[in-house]
Amino acid sequence: MQKKQVRKAVIPAAGFGTRLFPATKVVKKELFPIIDKDGRAKPAIQLIIEEAFSAGIEEVGIVIQPEDKRTFIDLFKFPPKAELFEKLSPENQKYSKYLVDMGDKIKFLVQKEQLGYGHAVYCAKDWVNNEPFLLLLGDHIYSSDTKVSCARQVLEIYKQVNQSVVGLTTMPADMLYKAGCITGVWQQKNSIISLTQVSEKPTVEYARQHLRVEGIAEDEFLCIFGLYVLTPKIFDLLGENISNNFRERGEFQLTTCLDKLRRAEGITGYVVKGKLFDIGMPDAYLQTLIDFRNRDK
Ligand code: UTP
Repeated sequence: MQKKQVRKAVIPAAGFGTRLFPATKVVKKELFPIIDKDGRAKPAIQLIIEEAFSAGIEEVGIVIQPEDKRTFIDLFKFPPKAELFEKLSPENQKYSKYLVDMGDKIKFLVQKEQLGYGHAVYCAKDWVNNEPFLLLLGDHIYSSDTKVSCARQVLEIYKQVNQSVVGLTTMPADMLYKAGCITGVWQQKNSIISLTQVSEKPTVEYARQHLRVEGIAEDEFLCIFGLYVLTPKIFDLLGENISNNFRERGEFQLTTCLDKLRRAEGITGYVVKGKLFDIGMPDAYLQTLIDFRNRDK
């Protein structure tokens, strides 16, 4: 089968962010400030987009709520208005151009109703247009342990295996309540694994019985990192769930469709050499602010 190049990335950023209420009533969590190691205050989404571009992605589609369009357009499509622009340091004036250049490669896709993460991904179907694509969560940021960015690592594995790839990291049992978890058969010990099951937020009991992976420490599990390369088949599977109104906890989820994709085409898991930083919950966000700024110090 002809390998298709991965040119596009999708970032769902249309959730309500209920766990960060009331801040998310006025600011999307994807726009929360993060201090980068250069000391610059960046909206989280900018770091996620930079992660995608670091992997050679040409265009990014951000899934947003219709009423957030103005804010995202202001951030990426225009410089600040003239009287404010003049107040910026010469360095920040240049930086403002960098953001607008970034905006040239960004497309905004709309999710009218907040029907879940899987549904948000489905909203990118027409724009992705039958190509494999990089998917990045809108509320996680990443830092590589090597010179190769986390997204590029995942993309390079996709080129090797020519099937969907899910980035993985180990998590202790007490984190499973918020994670997608997998099991499988190692192709390359502690690095590349053929998935045999994907399970969303399993109970610890279930994970201990069914999701143990050889060589992973006692009571640790392989969980989804939030970076994936998916084939367009995922849209057929999400579409089926949506047309059959098959919801879990009231929403259309991605993980069930990942498991179906695994059965249909196979999925490779890859243990990313890097760290993920969660911004989706108050204390996780607080810790991310500190750890992300101080990484590599
Ligand atoms: P979450 O599962 O964290 O949901 O979304 P959420 O609504 O943002 O936050 P909580 O759980 O209520 O606190 C995972 C990713 O999917 C996006 C979010 O913006 C986040 O990047 N998402 C979620 C959507 O784009 N649309 C949705 O309907 C749900």
